[in-house]
Amino acid sequence: MSFDRTVKIAPSILAADFANFGAEICAVESQGADWIHVDVMDGHFVPNVTFGPSTCAAIRPHIQTVMDVHLMISPVDQFIEAFAEAGSDVITAHVEAGPHIHRTLQAIRANGAKAGVALNPGTPASAVAHLLDVADLVCVMTVNPGFGGQSFIPLESKVAELLAMIGDRPIHIEIDGGVTPETAPGLVAAGADVLVAGSAVFEGGSVENPAPYGRNIRKIRS
Ligand code: DX5
Ligand code: ZN
Repeated sequence: MSFDRTVKIAPSILAADFANFGAEICAVESQGADWIHVDVMDGHFVPNVTFGPSTCAAIRPHIQTVMDVHLMISPVDQFIEAFAEAGSDVITAHVEAGPHIHRTLQAIRANGAKAGVALNPGTPASAVAHLLDVADLVCVMTVNPGFGGQSFIPLESKVAELLAMIGDRPIHIEIDGGVTPETAPGLVAAGADVLVAGSAVFEGGSVENPAPYGRNIRKIRS
């Protein structure tokens, strides 16, 4: 995984057909997805449950790009090895998920993945000030995590603040939640380079009819 700040669109399979992940991933990648975003929820850190490392391992062979795993779980440390072994390229943990996020990020890197740190909407940018030497990605949540299809919380000023803190370090700024063709431009202008999008990518398309996925991705990118 080489580093650059060009805009990358990361469809979230939370909005895909759960009975058909392999084919859905193949469809969005063929339609221009840059990364595949995988939302792991535990019913404890967030009020919803999705799936765990075995599902990640099962979908990994279908991903040609980057498997970007967003852990909305607490505690997190004891599961890092399993998600790394499942083939995650990026593993993101929440700063709010426990008292030892610095250790968590070190452990993610030690397991061979890029380390991401996510911030809930109510958490200030300063929460990552002392984590920048152990992070490869900062994820700014622009919805309260747990569900797809929620409305966007405008946090462009937090993104700009993070970009200033990051300076020339090779750290991605990812946005997760409510990204649409309308909200994307302000986020990119503020410094975001990875845009996660669930509903806005998958709406109107299917494995049988993937062309809308491509149109949706191009609309967000432009
Ligand atoms: C929310 C998840 C997001 C979600 C985004 O908890 O982390 O990745 O899938 O969905 P949309 O793009 O529909 O807001
Ligand atoms: Zn996510």
